[in-house]
Amino acid sequence: MTIDKPAPRPRATSSIEFPAGFRWGAATAAYQIEGAVAEGGRAPSIWDTFSRVPGAIADGSTGDVACDHYHRFRDDVRLMADLGLTSYRFSIAWPRVQPPGKGPANQDGLDFYRHLVDELLANDIEPWATLYHWDLPQPLEDAGGWPERETAARFADYASLVHGALGDRIRNWTTLNEPWCSAFLGYGSGEHAPGRRDGTAAVRAAHHLLLGHGLATQAIRADDASADVGITVNLYGVSATGSRATDLDAARRIDGMANRIFLDPLLRGEYPADVLEDLGPVSDFSHVHDGDMPTIATPMSYLGVNYYSRYFVAGPPDGDTSASPPSDWSGAWPGSEFVQFSTPDQPVTGMGWAIDADGLAEILVRLHRDYTSLPIYVMENGAAYDDVVDDDGQISDPERLAYIKAHLGGCHEAITSGVPVQGYFVWSLMDNFEWGYGYSKRFGIVHVDYADQRRTPKKSAQWYADAISRNGFDA
Ligand code: NOJ
Repeated sequence: MTIDKPAPRPRATSSIEFPAGFRWGAATAAYQIEGAVAEGGRAPSIWDTFSRVPGAIADGSTGDVACDHYHRFRDDVRLMADLGLTSYRFSIAWPRVQPPGKGPANQDGLDFYRHLVDELLANDIEPWATLYHWDLPQPLEDAGGWPERETAARFADYASLVHGALGDRIRNWTTLNEPWCSAFLGYGSGEHAPGRRDGTAAVRAAHHLLLGHGLATQAIRADDASADVGITVNLYGVSATGSRATDLDAARRIDGMANRIFLDPLLRGEYPADVLEDLGPVSDFSHVHDGDMPTIATPMSYLGVNYYSRYFVAGPPDGDTSASPPSDWSGAWPGSEFVQFSTPDQPVTGMGWAIDADGLAEILVRLHRDYTSLPIYVMENGAAYDDVVDDDGQISDPERLAYIKAHLGGCHEAITSGVPVQGYFVWSLMDNFEWGYGYSKRFGIVHVDYADQRRTPKKSAQWYADAISRNGFDA
């Protein structure tokens, strides 16, 4: 479970070199790695419930054991130190720290994270904590979940409670991870917990997630005005595959629903007019109260971006006039009748996601040009492939290595264009529970043998360690 430390090399050989202080990280999330779902006072989250619904998870698995990180965190931090990570992004499980979703903290839950963070700090690894990576305490879903305004207030209380307990050790806070997934996969398509299929509820959920982010940011800042607080959104390149007006409109719609629906409220304090119009058939937005938008746009310390792929879209076939906005929409994409997705002649990962590193540079440049001068961190980027363990127990994963290298190249290109990209976190440190896909998809740079929990760094991990040690790599 240790890896060979790369031999020191002259830095001058790097043709791609990152600015001094660039953060080299890896990311995980609580439900995907911790296991121990009934230990230390933890109570069920929506993912404990959802993963038990027959057919919800491709391989019928749950996060009950996952990578058993709860018991093995010291070994895992050792692994991070061996890789040379400067930073580690993890999430705090709300149902571990405040099991009912309200009221006092569960001390055992806080202690777990305190010990983890102390271990990180002792190894010179900077902790980056995400407060919500999708594991809503089940009692809050029973009370209506994110479509209810009250959940935003509960989240701010929880954020304040965690910050109060761990703010002396953790400087960097992310409120939410990928609110798009929480809202539109959780309440729209039902592919994620809690598995509801109700477009109107999904739009309300998106708003209350944003509101929760704003309130949590304010609550943390009230405790400590100097805390670094941001959010992490998943963004995509979007391209029209044709030049018909309907193709361009499809691209506008998906860019609106995937990217601008979160970026504009967060960074401009308003929903984009075309998104409001597209969503008109399912929501009148009466759930938006006076004062919400300025709260959502509370200034942040940085913007976190998760980037994996580009969407290629076209309008409906010519002559198809059946497309009309449904009033009872369910699905991940409102108005999807107007859009056809494809991956034209494009290499894809093991998830079937188009590989497009240029899209990352494009998004980063666009953010800086159109939205914000804040520092930007790539909080997740990586790829699943069907890894094969060699006879000698090693895992050679050239495709993942090439993916990571190309996307780090995209970060570097953006930096060269003047975008303040200050760090990159690979998804993921180790193979883990990939939500609806269970353990059938492996994103780790470290292989996990789920039979005995053995960790084996893949070739991509060795390459990453080498890049970290040189603060760059040969292009
Ligand atoms: C985004 C999510 O934040 C993470 O939990 C997930 O495993 C990766 N993408 C890969 O799908």
